[in-house]
Amino acid sequence: MKTLIIYYSLEGNTKFVSLEFAKIVGANTLELVPKKPIKARGFSKYIWGGKQVVTNELPKLEPYSFNQSDYQQIVIASPIWASHFAPAIATFLSENKINGKIALIATNEGGSCKKAFHKVKEKLPNCEIIPTLNLLSPLRNQEETIEKLKIFSEKLK
Ligand SMILES: Cc1cc2nc3c(=O)[nH]c(=O)nc-3n(C[C@H](O)[C@H](O)[C@H](O)COP(=O)(O)O)c2cc1C
Repeated sequence: MKTLIIYYSLEGNTKFVSLEFAKIVGANTLELVPKKPIKARGFSKYIWGGKQVVTNELPKLEPYSFNQSDYQQIVIASPIWASHFAPAIATFLSENKINGKIALIATNEGGSCKKAFHKVKEKLPNCEIIPTLNLLSPLRNQEETIEKLKIFSEKLK
């Protein structure tokens, strides 16, 4: 089944997950890159990013190419920001009406991703959402992450 992994990553965790998962399932990847680079470092990045989430900001993205009809299955991967998928994902979903089979992957540093999955599912009314996977600090747990991705890949067949 031809699969595309669409992802956003600020600090590399979701990128690592997306590229490893692409190797496992033989998928293509599409990285979403906001036009305005992040200005904040350290703790202030939480304020900066949290504000974007709370105000439902849709950051403009660098041009990308996406043709839904090329794929039978889509995977969306994002870090959790203030209990939501990152705003770049919201921008992408506002610009594209996705349908068909979708799987969701979140990376975070703890806590539940239930609300984030629920919120993003609301933005995908025409999709059959298959599985969801939450991965804790993937760059610090690389071997464990790859094992989890291998198990998860079985659900996409
Ligand atoms: C603005 C911002 C908000 C965040 N909010 C949460 C959160 O609500 N819960 C959580 O567990 N981690 C939160 N994190 C941590 C990230 O979800 C986590 O480090 C993630 O794996 C980073 O992925 P990336 O390296 O692909 O950017 C937040 C990080 C940022 C920058």
